[in-house]
Amino acid sequence: MKHILLGTTDIKVSQAGLGTAKLGRNQKMHYPSSFELPSDNAITELLGYAKELGINLLDTAPAYGLSEERLGKLLKNQRHQWVISSKAGEEFINGESYYDFSSTAIRNSIERSLKRLQTDFIDIFLIHSNGEDKKIILENSALDTLKNLKKEGLIRAYGMSTKTIEGGLLAIDHGADAVMITFNPVNHEEKPVIDYAYQKNAGIFIKKAFASGHLQKITGNDPIQTAIDFILKEKGVTSIILGTLNKKHLEHNVQCILGNMR
Ligand SMILES: NC(=O)c1ccc[n+]([C@@H]2O[C@H](COP(=O)([O-])OP(=O)(O)OC[C@H]3O[C@@H](n4cnc5c(N)ncnc54)[C@H](OP(=O)(O)O)[C@@H]3O)[C@@H](O)[C@H]2O)c1
Repeated sequence: MKHILLGTTDIKVSQAGLGTAKLGRNQKMHYPSSFELPSDNAITELLGYAKELGINLLDTAPAYGLSEERLGKLLKNQRHQWVISSKAGEEFINGESYYDFSSTAIRNSIERSLKRLQTDFIDIFLIHSNGEDKKIILENSALDTLKNLKKEGLIRAYGMSTKTIEGGLLAIDHGADAVMITFNPVNHEEKPVIDYAYQKNAGIFIKKAFASGHLQKITGNDPIQTAIDFILKEKGVTSIILGTLNKKHLEHNVQCILGNMR
C-alpha cells in the first residue's frame, strides 16, 4: 500500500483510508439497504485487517453516531499506529442533523472528540459541511478556527469536507491541508477541486467513491475497479475513503487500488 504525504504536512496517509460512518450510525443513511451496527469483535477484526492491508488512515465524525467512541475504546494502545481524521460542525441527535460552525461549537466539539477517541491530539480535522461551504468559510470563519487549533497543537492538519466546487476551492485558498470531496464515475462535478489541490499541493480525500454502494449506477464488469480506475486517473487524489464493514469487500477494494498502475 502506498503512503503519501498529505499536502505540505509531515503526515503520511495510505492511499486507501477506512471510512467509519457504518461503525456508529445506521439511521438516515443513503446506502441501498439497512444494516445492523457491527459488534466490537467485528470492528476489531475489520481494523486489524485494514492494518494488515497497509491502511493507516481512519475517517470518523461526531455525525457518525457512536463511531468516535467505539474507535477510542477499540484502538486503545494503538493510537500511534493510525492517522485519525475527524470532523466538527454536524451533530446527529435522535435521528436529526444539527449544524453549528461557530468557533465555540467547533472548540467544544474537538474537546469532546478528544475524549471520545481517548487521545490528546487529532491528526486531521475537517469541517463537516451542510452544503453552505462559502458561508461557513467566509462568514463563520470556521477554517480560521481550525488554523488556530493547529497552532495550539490539538490537531496536526485541517481542512473541510465540502459539497460545492466553490467551497473546495475556497477551502484550499484558506490553507486547508486536505479537502474531502465526492468523486466517482457518476458524480464527478467536483473535479476542478482535485485539479486546484494538485496545483496548490493540498491533499484530496475521496468520499462516496462507489456512489455509497449504489453499484448498479456504475458501468463495467466490476464497478469497484471502474470507480477506482476513474478516481486514480486524477493525480491530485491522495486517498480514497472506503466505507465498508465487510472484510471481503475491503480486500477487493484494496486489491483494485493496488492493481492500479499509478
Ligand atoms: N460529508 C462527509 O464528510 C461524508 C459523507 C459521506 C461519507 N463520508 C466518509 O466517506 C466514507 C465512505 O463513504 P460512503 O460509505 O458514503 O460511500 P462508498 O464508500 O461509496 O460506499 C460504501 C457502501 O458501498 C458498499 N461497498 C463497498 N465496497 C463494496 C464492494 N466491494 N462490493 C459491494 N458493495 C461494496 C458498502 O457496503 P458493505 O459495508 O456491505 O461493504 C457500503 O454500503 C464514509 O464512511 C465516511 O467516512 C463523509
